[in-house]
Amino acid sequence: MRLLVVGKGGREHALCWRLNQSPSVWKLFCTVGNPGINSLATPVPIEPNDIRRLADFAAQERIDLTVVGPEEPLTLGIADEFAARGLALLGPDRAAAQLESSKSFAKQIMREAGVPTASFAVFDDVEQARRHVRQLGAPMVVKADGLAAGKGVTVCDGPEAALRATEDAMVRRVFGDAGRRVVIEERLSGQEISFFALCDGAGALPLGMAQDHKPVFDGDRGPNTGGMGAYSPVPQFDAALEERIMREVVEPTLRVMAARGTPFRGVLFVGLMVDGGRLNVLEYNVRFGDPECEALMMRLEGDLAQALLAAARGQLAPEHLRLSPKSAVSVVLASGGYPGAYDKGLPIGGLQRIDGNEPSDAKIRWAVEQVRVKVFHAGTASTQGRLVTDGGRVLVACAMASTLERAVAAAYEAADMIEFKGKHVRRDIAAKALAGLA
Ligand SMILES: Nc1ncnc2c1ncn2[C@@H]1O[C@H](COP(=O)(O)OP(=O)(O)O)[C@@H](O)[C@H]1O
Ligand SMILES: [Mg+2]
Repeated sequence: MRLLVVGKGGREHALCWRLNQSPSVWKLFCTVGNPGINSLATPVPIEPNDIRRLADFAAQERIDLTVVGPEEPLTLGIADEFAARGLALLGPDRAAAQLESSKSFAKQIMREAGVPTASFAVFDDVEQARRHVRQLGAPMVVKADGLAAGKGVTVCDGPEAALRATEDAMVRRVFGDAGRRVVIEERLSGQEISFFALCDGAGALPLGMAQDHKPVFDGDRGPNTGGMGAYSPVPQFDAALEERIMREVVEPTLRVMAARGTPFRGVLFVGLMVDGGRLNVLEYNVRFGDPECEALMMRLEGDLAQALLAAARGQLAPEHLRLSPKSAVSVVLASGGYPGAYDKGLPIGGLQRIDGNEPSDAKIRWAVEQVRVKVFHAGTASTQGRLVTDGGRVLVACAMASTLERAVAAAYEAADMIEFKGKHVRRDIAAKALAGLA
């Protein structure tokens, strides 16, 4: 198979790394790539949102399957463009991608499918929204309807904060057009988890659960980021919960989408709040999360390329994929200052101690202990043969081991071997899970 991966971050590096291990893949391209990806895939200088040119490229290069990492090209209709030209692509079409690109659409689908979720109301008129907020009075959550780069949701203690958030979105338009409409919903409490399923329009295979860490500092303090680390599986929750999520969330959602004539093909990412025996869906995303994807790719077994192609064709079968019962963890190495302003172009050292040929004590021990360690590139660049920082999230150190504790120790050992000025790493990835296990 000839494959094209669309995207350029740690998620796409992990996908390329895993796809490159598929026996059926003999040529891999990635747009736009990064120095880590480029060691596995031929870089293609077309931006992920340039969907016409991507389709031209796929046709010209006789690509057998295109896999899309980020949500934006999906929302712009990359799957529709490829389908119109008879090109296979894994990812939902524009209509199905609304599960992520419109929060009111997602809530409507949840309601139709009987999927448990917070009670909500949708507003296009700010006066009506204000009235609703005052009436509710209680803790609530205000969500801009459209894509807002993870910044469109405000969790509010009471009506004052909710009024401010509503006006920010609808009047001051701080999220642009994404805030013309808002969803105001009941505030839930509990533990947040992410669940992933590979869907072929009619059915789905579970890809496992993961827990992300959004705030930039330890103890969940500081502003939210794209994610500072993740781990999978989530030992606080057992296989029974996974089955419930498949039965109560994924399957009914797929049924409703298919009945509407817009079947969902691709990776469905369900964000959930779990409180004792209660589970509620917070949101859908229509692609892998980053850095959850990196941890999940460590655990996946089987021919990933064949599985993704089968999903794209609507022919997914249970034998296509398995998940290792081992624990995987991903730890993000970020630029100092991220998610605010940060420097770029800072030299990165120490990677060869993990990925290269220079033996280190840790590498020998990891081999003996059967710990698998891998560092993915998220925001790096190569200038004059030197690897330098080129983004807020720079690298993602991952490890998989028979216990979560060992995986965490190995991932941090790897993260600590890498150096660049201002490097920031959250030190408590998976700490809650480890405390629960102790
Ligand atoms: N109903 C809710 N109750 C409590 N917290 C919520 C609720 N909805 C969202 N959140 C919090 O806000 C975060 C972002 O909301 P989400 O719906 O995932 O939007 P997005 O990821 O697009 O910003 C969630 O990860 C969760 O922490
Ligand atoms: Mg979210």
